Amino acid sequence: MAPRLIVSADGAEAFEGWRASFARHAPDIAILSWFDPDTKREDADYALVWECSDDDLRAMHHLRGILCTGAGVNHLIASPDFPHHVKLVRMGGGETGALMADYVLWASIGLLRDARTWALQQSGHVWARNLVSRTSSQTHVTVLGYGQIGAVVAQSLARAGFVVSAWRRSGESGRDGGVDVHVGREVLPDLLARTDLLVNLLPSTPQTRGLLDGAFLSGLKPGAGLVNVGRGDHLVESALLDALERGHLSGAVLDVQAQEPLGPDSPLWDHPKITLTPHIASEASREAQVIYLAEVIRQIERGESPALLYDRARGY
Ligand code: GLV
Repeated sequence: MAPRLIVSADGAEAFEGWRASFARHAPDIAILSWFDPDTKREDADYALVWECSDDDLRAMHHLRGILCTGAGVNHLIASPDFPHHVKLVRMGGGETGALMADYVLWASIGLLRDARTWALQQSGHVWARNLVSRTSSQTHVTVLGYGQIGAVVAQSLARAGFVVSAWRRSGESGRDGGVDVHVGREVLPDLLARTDLLVNLLPSTPQTRGLLDGAFLSGLKPGAGLVNVGRGDHLVESALLDALERGHLSGAVLDVQAQEPLGPDSPLWDHPKITLTPHIASEASREAQVIYLAEVIRQIERGESPALLYDRARGY
């Protein structure tokens, strides 16, 4: 019997799009709507979700898999009702990494050339030269997180000419695809002190929440820039504002914020050294997501373990 996937991701209005795309790319999977009152939720084998209420999660205990449209699943496992015996799989696929790599390249070059100042000058009708003579090859970028997405991002920065290090908690250190990979908490101080541009791509876990605090930011090379594409809760925003105020940091690009949507009174909005985007850095096309998700379901049906399976011990 065809595996049955019930879809709640992106709300009722998105269902028809998901259904049509699965019909095109994965006719071997039956698609049900979470929102159709005639659907029996207990008939489903898998669910495709973004955010879920506790009630929704309680209705998912019988599933073989929960597939999340996000690369981060911290919001799901934060619920006491998350059914930990059900496999949870994060979003992946080539497009997810490629989009993130493009975003980080844009943000890194924008920080290198101080593009925020040009944007402010343009909106103020100011014609003033704002020259930067440092090149990418004179700029050391450190990427925090070297998993499926971090590796693609770091290697794309290296191809663009930046000097690139990556850092991860565990695994292999060494040279990989033009990137110096560093491992372990103890190497961080030395690495940060040599970092002109920090890119945060870590998952949000109890170990990483609040990691980018005042002491951490103060450890960066004076004049460094920050790109946060992880989660808003990694960064202590008041510490960032303070570091910018002191001139210790020169600028930041934040795709994620502690409060989303960002409150209208946040000091981040109008800061002359901060560029904000509304959590859009990397969302693969519907087609690419469906092709990836269908393969995940087929892997689980074959008894295989998908690469981006949530691991409770690791926390992501
Ligand atoms: C978005 O932040 C995601 O987790 O994919």
